Amino acid sequence: MNSVVTVNMENSVAVITIDNPPVNALSQPVREGLRQAISSAADDKDISAIVLRCAGRTFVAGADIKEFGKPPMQPHLPAVLNAVEASDKPVIVALHGNALGGGLELAMAGHYRVASARCKLGLPETNLGLIPGAGGTQRLPRLTGVELALDMITSARPISATKALEHGLVDEVVDSDDADEVLQAALAFASGAAWNDGPRRTRDIVVASPEDYQKIFEFWRTTTEKKARGQHAPQFAIDAIEHSLNLPFDEAIAKEREYFLECKASPQSRAMRHAFFAERSCSKVPGLDASISPQSVQHVGVIGAGTMGTGIAMCFASAGLQVTLLELSEDNLQRGLGLIRERYEQSRQRGRISESQMHANIALINGTQSYTDFADVDLVVEAAFESMQVKREIFAQLDSTCRPDTLLATNTSYLNINTIAEATAHPERVLGMHFFSPAHVMKLLEVVNGEQTSSRSLVTALNVAKRIGKIACAVGVCYGFVGNRMYSCYGREANALLLEGATPSDIDQAMQQWGMAMGPLAVTDMSGIDIGYKARREREDPPADPLFFRAADLMVENERLGQKTSAGFYDYDSGKKLDDKTAVQLLKREAGKLGIEARDISVEEIQQRLILALINEGARILEEGIAARASDIDVIWLNGYGFPRWRGGPMCYADELGLDQVVRQIDAIHAKADGAAKSYWRAADLLRDLAVSGDKLSEQ
Ligand code: 3HC
Repeated sequence: MNSVVTVNMENSVAVITIDNPPVNALSQPVREGLRQAISSAADDKDISAIVLRCAGRTFVAGADIKEFGKPPMQPHLPAVLNAVEASDKPVIVALHGNALGGGLELAMAGHYRVASARCKLGLPETNLGLIPGAGGTQRLPRLTGVELALDMITSARPISATKALEHGLVDEVVDSDDADEVLQAALAFASGAAWNDGPRRTRDIVVASPEDYQKIFEFWRTTTEKKARGQHAPQFAIDAIEHSLNLPFDEAIAKEREYFLECKASPQSRAMRHAFFAERSCSKVPGLDASISPQSVQHVGVIGAGTMGTGIAMCFASAGLQVTLLELSEDNLQRGLGLIRERYEQSRQRGRISESQMHANIALINGTQSYTDFADVDLVVEAAFESMQVKREIFAQLDSTCRPDTLLATNTSYLNINTIAEATAHPERVLGMHFFSPAHVMKLLEVVNGEQTSSRSLVTALNVAKRIGKIACAVGVCYGFVGNRMYSCYGREANALLLEGATPSDIDQAMQQWGMAMGPLAVTDMSGIDIGYKARREREDPPADPLFFRAADLMVENERLGQKTSAGFYDYDSGKKLDDKTAVQLLKREAGKLGIEARDISVEEIQQRLILALINEGARILEEGIAARASDIDVIWLNGYGFPRWRGGPMCYADELGLDQVVRQIDAIHAKADGAAKSYWRAADLLRDLAVSGDKLSEQ
């Protein structure tokens, strides 16, 4: 047909093969090839049935997302799928790897489905701010019933082949993951009696309509509104699925298409597609020689059995790496190992890992109190106390204990990696691996590239990050690296607003309403207000600004450390999180002393101040080359700080807002600012330049 879709004959069965690496996305040539293949098969009397399959590691993983930003090209997917479904020759679809999005829609347009045991089937479009746009909202409920369809489409989570078989989404599961064996099974199916009735068209199946279906839809609308706060696509998806019950197939399909196109053109979908590609490009560091092979890492030493150290140890053990966990005090070591066992036990209870997996992971982690057990480790991650002196002593010790090629990483959140590296004779093997808390859960890892870090060390750290399932972004050295440096500007503004008259809940609610997972003050209360307080005092070059985090410092000075002392910005006594009257009084009094006049502050002002502070600092980080790309900054904020995915990250959001608008708003704040705020609110040169040239941050 063409180079990506070919047909060969197996007796009287036409085998159509899609071969469009890496994931067989339904690009225009694939759609055209399929259209032609189906049409030729229809005209060929010698063909009794059709088997549709894919070459390579997976069945079709969806429409080609790269095409979504471009003008649509014929033939459109729904038309191709309708042609598949309309075929008079039975179409048996052979599935292996993943059948996702348009891929599963293609499979459902076929008449029968045979899947490999490990195949995953799903409609993840809502992850991209879309709804299934090629019949998925109509064919899935016909095959599985509306409830599973609602679950799969709104959650975007794929299901296993076994579950698909149980619910009628596939007709046979082959106990193998080998694509050729699945093909053989599909050919056997084609020559067997299973389809003697001829094509079984999904569109002709009557959707099982639960009596109280309106209640079911109401339930899904409400729960989805909470789970996917702020997102439009899941609600459109629910409406479309409901049409499978209240409209004829063709009308419902037309509605689905209308909703799909509206979603595709929306800023939310643009942002989520940006996030998809940003997460895949961030591990490809510009200028880093792709031919460098990583060092072998099988055994990892972790220093510190506190919350971070134990979480980090679990990341490696869960990926099958051997771990030696070092803690000098026996009590702390035992407590840490106990915590690890507890967390694995919880995962087992929740069904996330099996009993044998739990025992295997625990057995991979050995505790020690002696550095001599690090003599043969391949990588060390230090997660000790956040003090330059402590870290330098540890690195000097590692330098004399470990092999000269052992990669030495620090998990510091703020400290200068170059200064830590100076404590060793081999600074080229020192870098930062900044995990986010809880380390065994959070996907993000900042890999901090020191001045003397070698390319091989960087490649090795990025490779290990991938093995342990992290999304790793390479960043340069500065106070707080990318994420915490920007967070400090965001928090700075929240603190300033508290003195200007906003209450903690005013600020948190405004930011949650904007889409952030949590408000900044609730986060501070949760992690402990003293953490930032201590970090600010460890700073080599603290800002010369008496108002800098004054509100948080005031809480600590009054022994209000957050949740751990049941008192912080919020009052926890009532069981509800309410503004704490004492905290608000303290803030008012402090503002009075500092001569700051209280005023009414709108939701919009809070949102604008905090988000623009992020954007401006992100632009400075780009100017300084601390992040290589604007999209890397977005990835960090999406995966480490609860930034709403449907806004794409702070840099993507700035582009969407328009950089001229961003600069205008920053200038307006600058005009009103005084003291140190005057320098914070100087618009980054990069923003000003791009606002003039009309270019975007995402193009940098
Ligand atoms: N379109 C275009 N490119 C795609 C793609 C797609 N649907 N899916 C993956 N790719 C690209 C990735 O960008 C990556 O490219 P790169 O190597 O240049 O960075 C490459 O394929 C490999 O992808 P991954 O790195 O993600 O590979 P993994 O093996 O880790 O994961 C996967 C494979 C599970 C298939 C994952 O890629 C994935 O989830 N893909 C997206 C699935 C999806 O969302 N499908 C729905 C699309 S929308 C749709 O179908 C609309 C329809 O209803 C009309």
